[in-house]
Amino acid sequence: MAKLNNLLLDEAVAVHAARRRFLTGGGKLLAGSLLLSTLPMQTTLAAATVANPAAGPVPLIIDTDPGADDVIAILLALSARDRLDVKALTTVAGNVQLRYTARNARMVREWANRPDVPVYAGCSRPMLRAPIYAAEVHGAEGVTGVKIFEPKQPLAKGSAVQYLVETLLAAAPASLTIVTLGPQTNLAMALIEHPEIRQGIKEIIMMGGAHFNGGNITPAAEFNVFADPHAADVVFKSGLPLTVIPLDVTHKMLTSPERIDRLRKIGNNAGKIAADILDAYVEYDIKQYGLPGGPVHDATTIGYLLKPDMFKGRMVNVEVDTREGPTFGATVVDYYRATKKPENARWITEGDTQGFFDLLTAQLAKLP
Ligand code: BDR
Ligand code: CA
Repeated sequence: MAKLNNLLLDEAVAVHAARRRFLTGGGKLLAGSLLLSTLPMQTTLAAATVANPAAGPVPLIIDTDPGADDVIAILLALSARDRLDVKALTTVAGNVQLRYTARNARMVREWANRPDVPVYAGCSRPMLRAPIYAAEVHGAEGVTGVKIFEPKQPLAKGSAVQYLVETLLAAAPASLTIVTLGPQTNLAMALIEHPEIRQGIKEIIMMGGAHFNGGNITPAAEFNVFADPHAADVVFKSGLPLTVIPLDVTHKMLTSPERIDRLRKIGNNAGKIAADILDAYVEYDIKQYGLPGGPVHDATTIGYLLKPDMFKGRMVNVEVDTREGPTFGATVVDYYRATKKPENARWITEGDTQGFFDLLTAQLAKLP
């Protein structure tokens, strides 16, 4: 045990040193803060083209910790073959342990009948902090309301971080969209190890953070950022085009019994699975927050990709509080430009709820 603890400590110290080098520009690594001050912000941060049917399917990688709402997000993405070219699902520890998130992603792939989409397993713990999970929300194995099974198709060989590095290094400039639906550990590790992977990234769409809404795991912090604040810090400081779907919008885009019923009434397997999972999942949020329905956080990111006109937000400066204490993992959003710090993210605050559920219902009808 002592040996294991020492190993984990060594690993954490090494990661911490790498992160410091990344943030301060030491060694061969680029500095996030340096990038922010030297890159032409208007062009770097302009919203990348989202799924424009005329331009062909948007190539993207979904980094995820399924998780009930992750499952709905993945089903939605895989249903839109004509609009989204999902290159891979990369998984991370978050809602539950990595062995379950990686298994659950493979389960969704099977439900959607998409054997062509590889699933990689990535980081099994956050960069520095002690691991936390959300089993009380998603169940001990990450998904409830449906029968869990061991999928036939195995994981792809190699780690998710290695896959991200190799794929982004080989990608055409600014060509790949990365959607993060869990803690940002995999992407942050890839950026730290090989900052030059930035060249392949067109835009990051992140579900995470909270400002007006307050947190859902602490009074100040949203789960994905709180689960690995140091990783989120790296992503926010990367200078890459970044759109954030925070609780500010997801807690306004709620299910209702009718919306879930419409999914079930599609009559296919995907609609039934989505309805069964949502029925079980939304109970927690309805009780915890006294909301009339449950948010489907992660699926909102795919809704944004498919129909950006349904959403409103603004460019802001966001910093992550990485100091342990009551605001650990909080996203500090300069919504009213009090500091004049450079904008580093598009922060979404409004969405068309009925439009989103109509889209979800129409899309899931395309799956088996
Ligand atoms: C986020 O945390 C997870 O529990 C959900 O899957 C979502 O990604 C919401 O705070
Ligand atoms: Ca998630």
